[in-house]
Amino acid sequence: MAVTEEALLARIARGDLVEGPEYATQPYIDALKRTLIVSADTELISAPSYLRAARDAPSINSYISATGIIQDELGHAHIAYRMLRDLGVDTDALVYERDPKDFKHPYAFDVPLDSWTELVVANAFYDRAGFLLLGDIFRHTTYGPWKRALAKVDREENFHLGHGEKWMRTLSQDPKGKTDLQHAVDWMFLLTIEWFGLPDALKRHKEQIGYGLKGYTNDQLRQQWMSTAVPLCQEVGLTVPARHDAEHNEWVITCPFPARFDERQKSPGMTCWCDGSSAGPRTASLSARSSAGTRNWGDTSMRELDAGVVRAALYEILDPEYPVSIVDLGLIRGVEVKGSTVRVRMTYTSMGCPCTEMIQDDIRERLRALPGVGRVEIEVVWEPWTREHISAEGLKQLRGVGVV
Ligand SMILES: [Fe+2]
Ligand SMILES: [Fe+2]
Repeated sequence: MAVTEEALLARIARGDLVEGPEYATQPYIDALKRTLIVSADTELISAPSYLRAARDAPSINSYISATGIIQDELGHAHIAYRMLRDLGVDTDALVYERDPKDFKHPYAFDVPLDSWTELVVANAFYDRAGFLLLGDIFRHTTYGPWKRALAKVDREENFHLGHGEKWMRTLSQDPKGKTDLQHAVDWMFLLTIEWFGLPDALKRHKEQIGYGLKGYTNDQLRQQWMSTAVPLCQEVGLTVPARHDAEHNEWVITCPFPARFDERQKSPGMTCWCDGSSAGPRTASLSARSSAGTRNWGDTSMRELDAGVVRAALYEILDPEYPVSIVDLGLIRGVEVKGSTVRVRMTYTSMGCPCTEMIQDDIRERLRALPGVGRVEIEVVWEPWTREHISAEGLKQLRGVGVV
């Protein structure tokens, strides 16, 4: 016999857990699935994001710590997808066949983490958000199977945020480290505030609280996050746009918010609430690769942006005077990719070349169009340029137009 809404609510009121779909109504199951999908997608998408930044680890030991965290996150994703499978969801379709833009996770994971500093701030900020959100579900959810599985997740998320705190304290000892931390905190603070979702007053689905799937509201969890994240930043001498209002005993954001985020500059501007439901280009690229029939996540390592990709893009840029690629002309003397920053070393055919600015503008425009590129730095080295630097292909093309 189907469970009625009254029987379900009575069970919840008695404090008895819902042990499976046979004890629940369809609206309860639908709300549970929505919550599980956000959790599973968030954990899954955090792994490649963290892996990218882990490559900047300062030592083998710290790299191993980071990969341990990544392994935990994949385990957390697996738990949530398994819960969904037990509820009859086709999780293979969910992971491999879903349209990338339908993945549900905080907007923060659409912004690449580029450095060890950003990774440890992510641990201190994002994993703290995960710890609070999942800790709340662990302690309050009425769905028994998830509650039990979250015991392990709760401990691991606590370790992740502790890892971030330890490293923020270490990096803040050094002036350069502190400057880098401040830069990371400047863009990551608001993105984590956004993590908790819409303000309670704007929230459409209220059944998470009604069915006891979680205990605290978005705004309550946001307050809890600020109550430990802000003092941490203050302790290590970092500035964040929030303060404690003692009179009302609440944390107040002291900058325009909700805010629009400028992905390229990694800086918050203003105007709209990111509701976390839209996947940006980065996630689109990651999930598209998993959807493209590649069930081996090993193939999706963060190799989409490397010197070869940059060189291929530079190859498309022609010298304004000759219809030959600047690469074939021998003007490019080095390409380096670090995180989302691309550094190009180049020279010109002569100091008096009138096209220097034009070529640099073309380089910036072309490279910024590449996925994953945030910053383009061009260093003009004024190394000698002679005919020997022109490639065979370049010579052939120049001959074709009668230049050599
Ligand atoms: Fe996690
Ligand atoms: Fe975590």
